[in-house]
Amino acid sequence: MILPITVYGNPVLRKVAKEIKEDYKDLDKLIENMFETMYKAEGVGLAAPQVNKSIRLIVIDATPFAEDEPDLKDFKKVFINPEILEFKGEKELFNEGCLSLPGIREDVTRPTKIRIVYQDENFNEFEEVWEGVKARIVQHEHDHLQGKLFVDHISPIKKRLINSKLTAIAKGKTIPDYKIMRNK
Ligand code: NI
Repeated sequence: MILPITVYGNPVLRKVAKEIKEDYKDLDKLIENMFETMYKAEGVGLAAPQVNKSIRLIVIDATPFAEDEPDLKDFKKVFINPEILEFKGEKELFNEGCLSLPGIREDVTRPTKIRIVYQDENFNEFEEVWEGVKARIVQHEHDHLQGKLFVDHISPIKKRLINSKLTAIAKGKTIPDYKIMRNK
C-alpha cells in the first residue's frame, strides 16, 4: 500500500522519533508499505516520520545506483533503532534531495565516514563502518529520526534563498508527482 509522504511544515518531521520494541504491531506490513511508497516516489531512502510515524525505522534501497557506485550493489536494508556512534573522516559536499522537500536540491556538507549500530527487520543487531555514498544516505535518513532535515545543514544565506520554496511546500502549493499528506 502506498502511503502519503509528509512534507516540510508537518510537525512529525521535527520530532525525535521513538525506539521500536519487538512487539510493535504490524511492523512487517509497515516496512513493506514504506518500500512500496519509496519506490513509487523514486526515492533511495525513507524514514518513518516521512509516513507520519514517529518511530526509529528507516528503509533504504540504493541498488539502482550500483552502476555508478559499485559499493551500493547490495545496499538494500531496513534499519530499526539505528544509532550513529561515530562520525569520521573528512567532510565532503554532496548534492541532496528529500521526498519531504519536493523541488529542492542543495549541496550539503557531511563527514564521509560513520560507525553505526542498528537492528534489522528481525531485530538482529549489527555494527558497521560505512563511507562514501552509503554513509551519506544513512546520515540523511538518520537525521529524519532526530527531527532534522538536510536544509538544517546549509548556510543561513542559502536557506534564505530557498525560503519561498520552503513556504510553498509548507502551504501545499508544491505538488510533486507522488502522493503527499497535506499539512493542516
Ligand atoms: Ni529525506
